[in-house]
Amino acid sequence: MSESNIAGEMIEKKEFLKFFSFYISAKEFFGLQQGAVLVDCCSGSSFLGLYWLDRNPDDKVTAIDKTLTEKHRETLDYFVSSNPKIRNRYEFLQQDITQPDFEFPECNAVIAVHACGSLTDIIIDKCMKQGLPLAVMPCCYNSKRIWWQKYSPCIEFEGDLGRYADELRLAYLKHRYKNAKIETISPEITPMNRILLAGKKK
Ligand SMILES: C[S@@+](CC[C@H](N)C(=O)[O-])C[C@H]1O[C@@H](n2cnc3c(N)ncnc32)[C@H](O)[C@@H]1O
Repeated sequence: MSESNIAGEMIEKKEFLKFFSFYISAKEFFGLQQGAVLVDCCSGSSFLGLYWLDRNPDDKVTAIDKTLTEKHRETLDYFVSSNPKIRNRYEFLQQDITQPDFEFPECNAVIAVHACGSLTDIIIDKCMKQGLPLAVMPCCYNSKRIWWQKYSPCIEFEGDLGRYADELRLAYLKHRYKNAKIETISPEITPMNRILLAGKKK
């Protein structure tokens, strides 16, 4: 399946570029071997997970979202119709990740694009607890995790809540992970363009 086909047929170009840029960052950062198992958390249409499978024929993806939408069915049908083997390497779990007993299924890494507000923080906490590498692009910022400032009191709030929240998240991740960083994609693709990346736990 060529990238231009996906961009033209399934989703609009900017949306495609968002997933594509995220995919390139996460893929390079994790450096996973073939046969890896990924969780696409807060998956929405599941485009990210299905695109990952299309490009990595030995990997498996579990998509998790609290809602199963028609868009998800359409996206799955689209990918499966051009690459039927994807069907056996993909599963969808309808789950609410905010439930206290929620745990990620066994996997090599968790990926999430535009995990709104505190969902990003929940993903970070659960991954930390389970020792899982993560790549998360946050969105819809709020100030609920301002207490994270204790991990880096020198980070100043300069008016951009999103940047501040992500710097605090990064400081928190660095406290527990050997390698953690923020990468950005072009703001022309999306203004919520930071990707939090964390690899092996300390
Ligand atoms: C902004 S959308 C992003 C969807 C997709 N990753 C994308 O980039 O197009 C956020 C997603 O989080 C899901 N979500 C919201 N609350 C959730 C929860 N408590 N547990 C699991 N998923 C949740 C929503 O259903 C929605 O699909």
